[in-house]
Amino acid sequence: MNRYLTIALPKGRLGDSAIERFDRIGWGDSISKDSRKLIFIDEVNFIKYMLVKPSDVITYVENGVADIGIIGKDSILESEAEIYELLDLGFGKCRFSIAGRKGQIIHQNDEVLRIATKYPRITAKYFDLRKQPIEIIKLNGSVELAPLVGLSDVITDIVETGSTLKANGLEVLEDMLEISAKLISNRVSYRFKYEKINTLCELLRVDKENNNDSNY
Ligand code: PRP
Repeated sequence: MNRYLTIALPKGRLGDSAIERFDRIGWGDSISKDSRKLIFIDEVNFIKYMLVKPSDVITYVENGVADIGIIGKDSILESEAEIYELLDLGFGKCRFSIAGRKGQIIHQNDEVLRIATKYPRITAKYFDLRKQPIEIIKLNGSVELAPLVGLSDVITDIVETGSTLKANGLEVLEDMLEISAKLISNRVSYRFKYEKINTLCELLRVDKENNNDSNY
């Protein structure tokens, strides 16, 4: 078994917050934020960091290319991947919501609601429970555009500051879930690299407590 612990970190806002935590616990020395490199190796502590697109973190972890990773609960729920969720990291907090134009009615069970989203599975499950017929329009980003141009009635998406919705004349109509960043592990790696993973988990847990993380 490879003695390196391989960690998949999401690029972008969530990844920046994650790197901050790794810096604080003394595990972040090998990572250079300004570099375009995608792999950073800590030869002292035997850690390999991979920077990947947020939507790919789970793929790397589920396939065992990365032993562990950091990703939002939204991606975990959407993927239904066979991974372990080890720790709530206390940052990356946001809401997962239905948004649309002010006063728009969402639940009219005899009418099909058209929903644009990057998250078809979470959305389908939610509306299935409420017996609301829907049509899902799967998009890969900038979903706020869809109701503005008539592609959908509403959207489901993560809302962090709310500024994207506001800038596009939309608002939250209903909250569906609370989201935050999680430490996840490949199932086999968790068995074979238990000690190292557990050490990291404990360091991040104590760091979270000491810093009383409530947001990014
Ligand atoms: C996410 C999300 C919203 C926005 C919410 O998009 O899909 O569009 O952030 O953040 P806010 O409430 O702070 O405005 P992201 O930035 O990942 O880009 P994307 O739309 O291209 O996926």
